Amino acid sequence: GTNQQWGGRFAEGPSAIMQAINASIGFDAKMWRQDIRGSLAHAAMLAHVGIISSEDEAAIQKGLADIAAEIEAGRFEWSEALEDVHMNIEARLTDRIGEAGKRLHTARSRNDQVATDFRLWVRDAIDGLAAQQLELIRVFVRRAEEHAGTIMPGYTHLQPAQPTTFGHHLLAYAEMLWRDRGRMLDARARLNECPLGSAAMCGTGFPIDRHATAKALGFDAPTRNSLDGVGSRDFAMEFLAACAICATHLSRLAEEIVIWTNPAFGFVTLPDNLTTGSSIMPQKRNPDAAELVRGKTGRINGALVGLLTVVKGLALTYAKDLQEDKEGVFDAAESLTLCLAATAAMVRDMQPNIPRMAAAAGAGFSTATDLADWLVRELKLPFRDAHHVTGRLVSKAEGMGVDLSGLTIMEMREIEPRIHEGVFGVLSPSASVASRRSHGGTAPDNVRAMAREWQERLG
Ligand code: ARG
Repeated sequence: GTNQQWGGRFAEGPSAIMQAINASIGFDAKMWRQDIRGSLAHAAMLAHVGIISSEDEAAIQKGLADIAAEIEAGRFEWSEALEDVHMNIEARLTDRIGEAGKRLHTARSRNDQVATDFRLWVRDAIDGLAAQQLELIRVFVRRAEEHAGTIMPGYTHLQPAQPTTFGHHLLAYAEMLWRDRGRMLDARARLNECPLGSAAMCGTGFPIDRHATAKALGFDAPTRNSLDGVGSRDFAMEFLAACAICATHLSRLAEEIVIWTNPAFGFVTLPDNLTTGSSIMPQKRNPDAAELVRGKTGRINGALVGLLTVVKGLALTYAKDLQEDKEGVFDAAESLTLCLAATAAMVRDMQPNIPRMAAAAGAGFSTATDLADWLVRELKLPFRDAHHVTGRLVSKAEGMGVDLSGLTIMEMREIEPRIHEGVFGVLSPSASVASRRSHGGTAPDNVRAMAREWQERLG
C-alpha cells in the first residue's frame, strides 16, 4: 500500500530499494525522547493559540506519554515502512488516539521537526560531555598537585630537550581540556535557538507562537530565518569540531601513555584493570585503552569531515542528504564519551616510576640550555656564543661517554677558559626545573601554585 503519512498522490508504495535507502529509523530512533519532547511542546502551543482544542491536546499528551512508556519498556515496534522516528511515533499516536493524533502535524513539517530534535539531542550530548571534561580536568589537577615536583624528561621532536615535571605535563592537558570544554559550551550557546515553526521551509500561515515552543524546549529564542532553520547543520559541524579537537588532545596523551608504558621508557605503569594480555605472549601487558582512545579519534575526526562533505554541495534548503547528518554525530558523541572516561581512569590510576623518570630526565644532555644560560649570566657571553660553546662541551662529553656534569673543570676550560666550579650548580635536572620560575614555567613551586589556582577555578 501507499504511505499512510504522505501516500495520497501515489498509486503505489516505494520499492524495496527505495525503502531501504530512505529509511533512517535504524539510527534516528535514538532521538525518540527529543521527538516526543518537541511534539509535546508543539501540541501545547497549538492548543494555547487555539489551533487545536484542549481535548485534542490532552489526548496527545496522554498518547505521547504512553508511547514513551512503550519505548522505554522495549515494547514499541519500529517500522521501516514508516521511515523515521518522527513518522513512527506519529503513526503510533494516531493508532492509539485517532483523530487528535492526525492534528499534531498541523503547522509543522518533518524538516523543522528533525532540525529541532537533532539540536535537542546534540545539546544533551554537549551537557554530558562538558561534565566529563570537567571531571577529567579535576583528575589532571589532582595528579598534578601530587606530582608537582616529580621530575621527568621534556621532549621536543621526541628527543630529550629539557627536564620538566610530571605535574607540569599533566597541567598542560588541563589547559587543553579547559579550552575543549569552552568550545563545547560555545557550540551549545550558538545552537540554542529553536527551528520549530520554520515548517517545511517558509514558515506557516497558522498563528503559531514560536517563542512559546522555543521557551518550552529550553531554547534561548526561535531561529530568525525559516530557510536557515530547516537547512543549516553548522550546529552539528561545530559540535563535531569540538569533539574532534578534544579527541585529538586525548589521542596525544594516549600516544604518550603508550610510549611511557613501553618498558624501554618505563615511566608509567597502568593498573591491571586498564591493560590487556596477549593470547600467545604470556609476558604482555598492552595499553589497549590508550590505543583505543588514539584509534577512536580517527572516526571522530572522520565524522567532522563526513558532515562537512555532506553539506558542502547542498542548495538551500532541506535535501534528503541531510539525513546523513546523524550517524556520525551519534558515533562521535558515543566515542568521545568512552575516550573521556577511559582517559580519566588511566590518569587517575597510572603510577609514575619516579626514579626512572628522574634518570631519564638527566640523560641526553638535557641541561645544556641551563649551561648556556649560565655562560650568559656568569661570563656575559652573548647567547649565540654561549650556545656554540655549550655545543662544543656537549660534543666533548659525548665523545668521552659522560654527561655534562661528568666533565671536569679542566676539561671544560679547554673549550672556555673562564668556566669555574659554579657551573656545577646548574647542571642537575632538579636545579634546572627549580630555576624555571617564569610565568607558566615548570618550577615545582609554580606548578603547585597553578594546581591551587585550578582548584579554586573548579570550586
Ligand atoms: N528522516 C529525515 C531526516 O533525518 C526527516 C526529515 C524528512 N523530511 C522530508 N522532507 N523528507 O532528515
